[in-house]
Amino acid sequence: MLRKEQNDLLTQAGPGTPGGRLFRSYWIPALLAEQLPENECAPLRVKLLSERLLAFRDTQGRYGLIDEFCAHRGVSLWFGRNEENGLRCPYHGWKYDYTGRCIEVPSEPEESGFCQKIKLKSYPLIERGGVLWTYMGPPQSRPPLPEWEFALVPPGQSFISKRLQECNWLQAMEGGIDSSHVSFLHRGELRSDPLFKGAKGNEYNLRDARPVFEVVESPGGLLVGARRHAEDGNYYWRITQWVMPSFTMIPPRGDHPVHGHFWIPIDDENCWAWSFDYHPTRPLSVDEVKAMRDGKGIHVKYEPGTFRPLANRDNDYLMDRAAQKAGQTYSGVAGIAMQDASLQESMGPIVDRGKENLVSTDNGIIMARHRLLRAVKNLMEKDVMPPGVEISHQRVRSAAVILRPDQSFKDAAKDVLTVCAGVAHSSV
Ligand code: FES
Ligand SMILES: [Fe+2]
Repeated sequence: MLRKEQNDLLTQAGPGTPGGRLFRSYWIPALLAEQLPENECAPLRVKLLSERLLAFRDTQGRYGLIDEFCAHRGVSLWFGRNEENGLRCPYHGWKYDYTGRCIEVPSEPEESGFCQKIKLKSYPLIERGGVLWTYMGPPQSRPPLPEWEFALVPPGQSFISKRLQECNWLQAMEGGIDSSHVSFLHRGELRSDPLFKGAKGNEYNLRDARPVFEVVESPGGLLVGARRHAEDGNYYWRITQWVMPSFTMIPPRGDHPVHGHFWIPIDDENCWAWSFDYHPTRPLSVDEVKAMRDGKGIHVKYEPGTFRPLANRDNDYLMDRAAQKAGQTYSGVAGIAMQDASLQESMGPIVDRGKENLVSTDNGIIMARHRLLRAVKNLMEKDVMPPGVEISHQRVRSAAVILRPDQSFKDAAKDVLTVCAGVAHSSV
């Protein structure tokens, strides 16, 4: 349960808010690189952390992320002309380069130097692993580029998608560390989804719906261990990684690609659910990529021309009561991603955490909130860099392992919880 002030602190990410300052400490995914496919292509409106921005790719292929609105009289530069190393406002022709610097005010005499006084707000936008990343904090605190494993493996080994989720980022993210819901909400998919089915671990998942949770702090966030019974008195452990502020990595199943999310605020009532799948040691197969494009696993099908899921609140997520009754799907909504998103959106745009009744399986969520609150406080009061900024905090993996009852998961699985190049993830 959170008091209203605490809930506000964690759910607000706009400019000038404490939570906004936290998000502005990190490189965050802004766009898929394929959204700006060539030099001088059409610019894109980008709303992130409640700021309205515009992304474009100039004549030399440099990426810019600048204020959406022209410094002259506030026209949206989405209408702009992307030409000769800059974006020109179509109203009176003011032109900006990829750093937001005004490089031409055609109505003024050149010798006046007027344009040199004008600069739009801008943020770096850099490609890594098929994603364009931005850092929206103060330039002097800019950290090194992110080194998440999914963004560093060769291109054929990863698949990344994003979808609009119409609720606050935190309640979406909390679903990512709440692995107890898998035995209920996603049980149908453990048997049917091509990117999940067939793993030995699924049997333990389906047989034991009372996992015991053990949550411990990691340098960058938390390790959420969920223990279920396996054979001979041993335990099947699923270990989820959460790295601040909003990276989650789901434990793998069999030799399937491993996957996870980033939850990035668009504004306080909407977020991007970034969804990545990768295999550390092999290319994804044609069938796997086809399934991902088809909205299987943690991905979705879209409304044409958008990143809004085809199943959305306007059509009740294509609820299928017959499938619910027959047990093909547990909730009646198809697909893992929309099963999660439908329920999380149903909580309202920002859930009131003063009304919850939390139980032991919510320990991961409780500790994540505390860690976020602590990080915000330290950042605001003492300027302390939050966990997750450091590269070593990002070089993590989730894991699924079988352990003896006397083994502690965090010690016994220590080696497989960090990235080891050329070695596959630990999975059951
Ligand atoms: S409003 Fe952009 S040039 Fe006048
Ligand atoms: Fe889920």
